Amino acid sequence: MPHSTGGLGPEQEFSDQDSASRAGAHRELLMTPEQMLALAQRAAELLIERTEGLSEEKAWDGDFQQALQNQLAGDPPENGRPAAEVLEQAAKAVLPFAARLDHARFFGFIPSSPTWPGVLADFMAAGYNVNACTWLVASGPSALELVVIDWLRRWLGYPDGAGGLFTSGGSAASLDAFVAAREAAGHPERATVYMSDQSHSAHVRAARIIGIRPEGIRMIPSDDRFRLDMEALAQVVREDRDAGFSPITVCANAGTASTGAIDPLEAMADFCAAEKIWLHVDAAYGGFAAVTEEGRKLLHGIERADSIGLDAHKWFFQPYEAGCLLVRDSRTLENAFRVGHDILQDTVWGKNHPNIADRGSQLSRSFRALKVWMSVQTFGMAAFRRAVSKGMDLAARAEAYVLESEMLELLTPVSLSIVCLRVKPGRIDLGEETLDEVNRTVLARIFWEDQGFLSSTLLKGRFSLRLCIINHNTNWDDVRDTLESIERYGTEACASLADGE
Ligand SMILES: Cc1ncc(COP(=O)(O)O)c(C=O)c1O
Repeated sequence: MPHSTGGLGPEQEFSDQDSASRAGAHRELLMTPEQMLALAQRAAELLIERTEGLSEEKAWDGDFQQALQNQLAGDPPENGRPAAEVLEQAAKAVLPFAARLDHARFFGFIPSSPTWPGVLADFMAAGYNVNACTWLVASGPSALELVVIDWLRRWLGYPDGAGGLFTSGGSAASLDAFVAAREAAGHPERATVYMSDQSHSAHVRAARIIGIRPEGIRMIPSDDRFRLDMEALAQVVREDRDAGFSPITVCANAGTASTGAIDPLEAMADFCAAEKIWLHVDAAYGGFAAVTEEGRKLLHGIERADSIGLDAHKWFFQPYEAGCLLVRDSRTLENAFRVGHDILQDTVWGKNHPNIADRGSQLSRSFRALKVWMSVQTFGMAAFRRAVSKGMDLAARAEAYVLESEMLELLTPVSLSIVCLRVKPGRIDLGEETLDEVNRTVLARIFWEDQGFLSSTLLKGRFSLRLCIINHNTNWDDVRDTLESIERYGTEACASLADGE
């Protein structure tokens, strides 16, 4: 049948063949149930093979642009090819060229080791095509997000009335928190934000995004244990007020990325309460320590913050992305973010039926709460508590090892699960510059030759090797072997220096 073209032009514009292919077009992006199942099964097999094979692999893989482009570049095909072939290509030519952040010997940056129910939750959420934006569009997912957010509220010791939402990560959580803080402060001109010189760069970025001018972003010095210096904070705030600036938020660390340092949360909460400044706590790395008794003690005071950002894709064993933002009073988020739109007028369900999109910057949102819920339901909180504690226990053991080693120096006491150390042979005085060189050589040799992966940081300018131990699958052998490699490469680097090489 020729298609009636209405205003489009003469009927003969479309041939019978065009019309037949258009009629079939609605099926062109579909697969049969058998094809879908076979493909999903193969995808699951590939993932399980990868996970089972991790212990045989190095913790890092990657390649240069040219080599990867040679494999991957090309125009999109006009006609498709077998899906299984595409899947195999992704599994062999793309996905392996990345840091294996869930490898038991990956200690760089902040590792991530997702549990299988969490991975499948992302698959299910995508398959069910959830848009966790409003109650009307996603009542089940919204109800579950409220449940999981309420778990987090209780773990952190927040009162009833606190609430929040899942975000892409800690950076987005901080950004949303800054927006809420600015709203609560009444959008002052000449706004200032405060953070320690150890705060994550995400906070400077968040401040820039909300329009804080460079001179309004105040970096407060940290003490010899990398915790924000309260006196310095009080002095800078005082001077700023005298100069006509308006502080809108102070940002505290509940586990810095460099050393795991925890700022004086109680003192900062007292200060912010007295000064009427919003206190945001960045707990992206350290926040989930709160599920353990030890962590809860270390993070004491966090429950007094106006907002807390934390990442379940770090120390709570979820796949990316799984950030969260909690606020003491969930209305503060809605005041900052809720903006009506005619097209959304049908989505207002009223009290106790929040549209979670009104609490943050995304309207269309993936259903991130499902992964936390499915994995906690599957394994139970006792297992999660043990897994989080394991990171702290292994870090404490690594600290003891370093303190006993003749070759290694502990650069700051372990906090949470981060160990900062360097090679420093006890008997020879090499000088700071040479020590830096030796340690950079050690880092490079671990990278190229060892199975494990480390990264480094700067501790007030001093080069430090750094292990972040939060993988539930890491054992003492993994940590000890890596420390032994550092000692061995360190010994060899010192020997070649002595030989004048
Ligand atoms: C302490 C800290 N804050 C914030 C962030 C940023 O979080 P995300 O990468 O989830 O945006 C990180 C990331 O590692 C972090 O370690």
